[in-house]
Formats: sequence, structure tokens, C-alpha cells
Amino acid sequence: MAEEEVAPPEVHHYESIEEVPWDIQNYWSQRHRIFSRYDDGVWLTDDAWFGVTPEPVANKIATHLVENAPAGRCILVDCFAGAGGNTIAFAKTGKWKRVYAIEKNPAVLQCAKHNAKIYGVEDKITWFEGDCFEILKNQLKDLAPYSVIFASPPWGGPGYRSDQVFNLRTMEPYSLEKLYKEYSLFTPHVALYLPRTSDVRQMAKFVPEGRKAEVMHYCMDGHSKALCIFYGDFNNHS
Ligand SMILES: C[S@@+](CC[C@H](N)C(=O)[O-])C[C@H]1O[C@@H](n2cnc3c(N)ncnc32)[C@H](O)[C@@H]1O
Repeated sequence: MAEEEVAPPEVHHYESIEEVPWDIQNYWSQRHRIFSRYDDGVWLTDDAWFGVTPEPVANKIATHLVENAPAGRCILVDCFAGAGGNTIAFAKTGKWKRVYAIEKNPAVLQCAKHNAKIYGVEDKITWFEGDCFEILKNQLKDLAPYSVIFASPPWGGPGYRSDQVFNLRTMEPYSLEKLYKEYSLFTPHVALYLPRTSDVRQMAKFVPEGRKAEVMHYCMDGHSKALCIFYGDFNNHS
């Protein structure tokens, strides 16, 4: 990398398991699946390890969004960019005129920017530090007619795994209703990345009368890792 970047104190590139805090050591063996270029110096905060979308899943979602994007939509807004897992995959497709990536945690945003450089896609992405709901309303509203939204919200911590059916009404800090209502003021074309056990009836509540919304499960090693629900005119066939 041309210029030497300085990582904020809460950002790390761990090089051995001995350096990794015990509560995220489970993720260490997954590091090359999370980011295949981990060894090139990927940055993560300790919290970001849990939330980042693993690269094979992010790539598949990115392909689906490109192949099924509604006509005339050439801008992708990633509302919860995190450490960049999805944002990088969207930019790598080379199909979006621009990827807009929003993240409210400054240290995590720095990880995403740094990681995008490692993948050589930083010039395809416009970054915003702040609250996605505000930024959509105040800074991106002129782009709304050309945009689709992708959002991988926080799921309220690792506890989601123990739920037989994940309750999207009580999802913290943003319920499905909050996400859908805010985003649909901006665009009807919204893809949400949610826990694999998400309550299908709750997702269906927001499908307009007479329309359909497809749910796609993304699998690794024969297990669903998570699902995406595609509201709006996505046309998933692949
Ligand atoms: C599940 S993570 C996203 C992971 C990301 N897709 C990736 O692959 O790295 C959710 C992120 O949303 C951020 N976040 C939470 N509320 C936000 C808001 N209102 N606006 C923007 N970002 C927010 C959190 O800081 C966190 O980094």
C-alpha cells in the first residue's frame, strides 16, 4: 500500500491466535473465509468479527443483486457497511455506477475503507460516517430514483442463534418495521440480510397487496448462514 495508514486503537490485524481476545477466538479459524485476503492486512474491530458477512456469501448476494436489479437502478446504497464485507463484494462486481456505504462507527468505517483498498475497489465507493436513516433523508435523497438499498442490520448480538424463530419485531436496535418503513420512503427496492430463522410471517407483512417478495437462503457447508428478503422489483431466478 502506498501510504502508511495508522489504525485507531480499537482496530486490529491479528497475526496469531495468541493475540485474539478469547471471546472471538472462535472466529479465528474462519478468517480466510471472512476475508480471503485476510493475510494482506485486513483490519477489524473486535465487534466487527461477529457481524461481517463472509466473503463467499457476500459475493453470492452481490451477484444476485446485479442479476436481478430493477431496471434503471444503477446505484447501490449499503446502509450498514460494517468492516466492508458486503460493500467490497458489491464494488467488485463492477456493475454499479456507484456504491454508497454508510457506517456510524468511525473505527469500523476505517476498517471498511482500509479493507476496500486491499481489494482494490476503494475508488468505486463513496463513504458516509453517520446514521443511515439520516443520511438517506438528507444527503442521498436526489439519488433515490436510481437506487436500491442493501442493509445488513445488527441482529442484537450472538443470542439470535438460540431462537427457533427469530422475532423481527423485537430485533435490536432496529425492528423490521423500522427498517422497512424508513427505507421504503427512499426506494421500494430493498434487500435485507437477516437471521436464517427470521419469522416469515413478519417479513410477509410488508409485501404490498398482490405482490411477491422472494427470500433467498445463503448457505455454507450445507447450512443456511442467513437469508435475504428482496422487497420491490427484484427478479430472482438464479
Ligand atoms: C452487522 S454489521 C454490518 C456488517 C457488514 N455487512 C459487513 O459485511 O462487514 C452492522 C453495522 O451497522 C452499524 N450501524 C448500526 N446502526 C447504524 C446506523 N443507524 N447507521 C449506520 N450504521 C449503523 C454498526 O456499527 C455495525 O458496524
